[in-house]
Amino acid sequence: MIGVLDSGIGGLSVLAAIASILPRSELIYFADTAHLPYGDKDDDAIRERVLRVGQYLARQGCGQIVVACNTATAAAVAALREALPRVGVIGVEPGIKPAAASSKSGRIAVLATVSTARSERLARLIRQHAGAVRVDILPCPGWATKVETLQLGDPDFAETARRLLEPVLAAGADRVVLGCTHYVFLAPLLEPIVAGRAALVDVADAVARQCQRLAGEIGEDGGTAARHGSLTLAASAHPERLLKALTVLKLESLAARLSGPANLADI
Ligand code: DGL
Repeated sequence: MIGVLDSGIGGLSVLAAIASILPRSELIYFADTAHLPYGDKDDDAIRERVLRVGQYLARQGCGQIVVACNTATAAAVAALREALPRVGVIGVEPGIKPAAASSKSGRIAVLATVSTARSERLARLIRQHAGAVRVDILPCPGWATKVETLQLGDPDFAETARRLLEPVLAAGADRVVLGCTHYVFLAPLLEPIVAGRAALVDVADAVARQCQRLAGEIGEDGGTAARHGSLTLAASAHPERLLKALTVLKLESLAARLSGPANLADI
């Protein structure tokens, strides 16, 4: 069984990619909505929640856990690996490497939560993979909450995004990294802003491939899984919102795998 966690609905973008590449797998998704957003919390608080959710997923029988949240990965993936040595733990990091490698202008931007933006992990990623490429880190306070409340077409918000991006686009940035899994659902709003100047970079498919490799290694790619795959949704608050999100975000392929109503898990 593969567990996927996030502070809320952002990780559904990663879950959809995993479900598509591993159609027969048993999946469980946990949204820590009682503690959202993670992005404006300190590392200790994020780590405490991620350990708790990870332990919950391990108790449900997950042999693999995907931390489908850049913020949680930066603050807590190492602690989670240490706490669950028998579970394969995969994290999600902003796509600095593919963005830098494909940039023609030598300038890229990364949109991230406040926590990820200031993290040493992001700084290291940039040192390792961006080389001579200039990287503008753009913290986006409040964006994840906007997605969480499904305000995806809000014109005022589109204006906020435009104002944030315009200077770096005007300066030549030709790749914009979506450094928070929630922001993938803002692509329809961001595309018109960057059109003709930059491409959005998201890593959901790359994470899903990594998940597939690990699943093969630990024998979780469908051997004991349900014939058509399954999906359990759980949240620490408002689990019903996950079901609504599947509809609004047009994730019908996930809805089709659902094995029951979304559960409330008081952890
Ligand atoms: N989805 C999370 C990420 O990828 C963060 C959202 C939040 O701030 O809770 O960073």
